[in-house]
Amino acid sequence: MAPWTWTQRCGQQLGSRRKLSLMLITLAFVTSSIVLMYLSFHLDMAFSLHERPCTPSLSFPPLSKVVKFNNDLLLSSVMKLSQNGSGFVMMISPSVGKLQDHSTGGDRKGDDDFHGRNRAALPSDNQLLKTLGSSSGSSKSKPSYNHQDVFHDKEIFLQNYKEMKKSLKVYIYPPKKNDHFANVFLPQNKDQNPGGNYASEAYFKNVLFKSHFITKNPLKADLFFLSFSIASLRHDRRVGVAGLQDFIRLYTTSITQEYPYWNRTGGADHFYVACHSIGRMAMEEVEQVKANAIQVVCSSSYFLPNYFTHKDVCLPQIWPRHEEPSGLDSSNRKKLAFFAGAMNSLVRKMLLQAWKNDSSIFAHEGRLKTPYSEQFLKSKYCLHLKGFEVNTARVADALYYGCVPVILADHYDLPFMDILNWRSFSVVIRTSDIPHLKKILEGISPEEYSVLHTNVLKVRRHFQWNATPLDFDTFYMVMYELWLRRSSIKVMS
Ligand SMILES: *[C@@H]1O[C@H](CO)[C@@H](O)[C@H](O)[C@H]1NC(C)=O
Ligand SMILES: *[C@@H]1O[C@H](CO)[C@@H](O)[C@H](O)[C@H]1NC(C)=O
Ligand SMILES: *[C@@H]1O[C@H](CO)[C@@H](O)[C@H](O)[C@H]1NC(C)=O
Repeated sequence: MAPWTWTQRCGQQLGSRRKLSLMLITLAFVTSSIVLMYLSFHLDMAFSLHERPCTPSLSFPPLSKVVKFNNDLLLSSVMKLSQNGSGFVMMISPSVGKLQDHSTGGDRKGDDDFHGRNRAALPSDNQLLKTLGSSSGSSKSKPSYNHQDVFHDKEIFLQNYKEMKKSLKVYIYPPKKNDHFANVFLPQNKDQNPGGNYASEAYFKNVLFKSHFITKNPLKADLFFLSFSIASLRHDRRVGVAGLQDFIRLYTTSITQEYPYWNRTGGADHFYVACHSIGRMAMEEVEQVKANAIQVVCSSSYFLPNYFTHKDVCLPQIWPRHEEPSGLDSSNRKKLAFFAGAMNSLVRKMLLQAWKNDSSIFAHEGRLKTPYSEQFLKSKYCLHLKGFEVNTARVADALYYGCVPVILADHYDLPFMDILNWRSFSVVIRTSDIPHLKKILEGISPEEYSVLHTNVLKVRRHFQWNATPLDFDTFYMVMYELWLRRSSIKVMS
C-alpha cells in the first residue's frame, strides 16, 4: 500500500506529466523487483549442474528420503481432505500455477496443435536468457566428472526395485461394454512396436497390460491406471485436440461416480501416461488430476504449469530402435559436439548463431542429408537442446549411440533423476552458457570423458523399450518411479 499512497500524494504537487512518469518509474521498479525475486527463486530451484555442486537435498534426494517425502506430502494432503469436506485435495505446488504452457511437445515433426492456445505468461526464452546471461556469465567452478557410479545409491535402489517387482499391483479400469472408445483405452495390439516421436506412451501401455503388475482385484491395487491414450485421442476424429479436455473431464467424472477408489485419495493413487505435451494441457479441466494424480509425461519441466516434480514422473522420450549399433566406443569420436534439428526455439537459434561455422562443433539447421546416426557415432558429445518444450528424443538417441549427452534445456526434470546421477553420464549446461560451450566441453579432461562415456554405456539400458520388458529397462524404471509415489494412506468412507 505504501508506495502507492506515496505516489498519489506526491503527484498532487507535481505536474500531470511528471506525475505520470513518476508512477511509471515506480511501477517499473516494483515490477522488476518482483520479476527478479521470482526469477532468483526459480532459477535457484531449477537445476543447473554446471554452475554449482549438486545439493543432494534439493535436486537429488536419496531414495529413502524420496519415499518418506512422498508419504509426508500425502499425509498432509489427506489430512486436508478430511478437514475439507469438498473432497478437493490440494498438493503443494511449486507456485507456478498461474503460468501457462506455451507450446507443444515434439519437435521432429513440428506438431503444432496447441499453438496459439494458452500461450502466454511463461517468461520468454528471451527474458530468461537476458537474466541468465547477466547473472551467470562464464562458469566459475567446474563440476567434477569423476562419478564412477551412475546411481545415487545403488544399494537402496536395488533393494527397492526387488520389492517393487515383487509387490507392486496396478488396477486398470476396464472399458464399458460396447464402449465406442475401447480403442482409446486398450493397447493397440496390431502395433506391437510403436514408432515415432511419442512412442513411449504406446510402449508403456502395451507392456503394462501384459505385465505381472496387473491385478483384477482393485482392493489389492497400489495404483490405478487411467488408460486413455492421448496419442489416439489426438488423432481420433470424434475427439481431436479440441475435444481432449472435455473427454478427460467426462471420463474422470465417470470413474469417480462409478467406482469408490478415486474418492479415497482424491485421485492420488491414480496415474496416466502421455508423451505429447498436450497430455498435460488435456487435464486442464480436471483439478484433481492436475493436483493429485501421478502424471507420467515426457514434457516435464520445473517451469511449467500442471507439472509437479515431487508427484509427477518424467517419461523419457525415446525413438524406438531395434538393432544394436556398432562402434559405440570412444576411439572414433573425433568431432567435439553435434546438433541437428529444427530451429523452433531461441536456444537453438543461439546455438546456431554462435557455433555454425565452428570446426569442432557441428551445429546444423534442419535434417541432415547424411545418416543421423553417423554424427552420433562420430561425436564425443551430442547436444540436446530444448525445442518447443524441454524434451526431445535426443537424450535417448545420444545414449543409444554411445554419445555423451549435453543438456541445454533449463528446468528439465530429467528422466529418472532421483535414481540416476546425471552428472555421471551427461553434461548439464545453462542455456545462457552457450557462448562458453566449447570452453566448457574442452575443459573436460580425457580421463573425465572416459568416465562419462563408460557410464553412458552403463545407463543405455534404462533408456530402451522392449516389447517384452527386460530388467531395468525404461518400463521397469518408470514402474519404479510409480512405486516410489504409491500411496500408503487411504481415506475410507
Ligand atoms: C475446500 O477446498 C476447496 C479448494 O481449495 C475450497 O474451494 C473450499 O472452499 C474448501 N472448503 C472448505 C469447507 O473449507
Ligand atoms: C465421489 O465424490 C464425488 C464428488 O463429491 C461424488 O459426486 C461421487 O458420487 C463420489 N463417488 C462415489 C462412488 O461415492
Ligand atoms: C559464418 O560464416 C558466414 C559465411 O561465411 C558469415 O556470413 C557469418 O558471419 C559467420 N558467422 C559467424 C558466427 O562467424
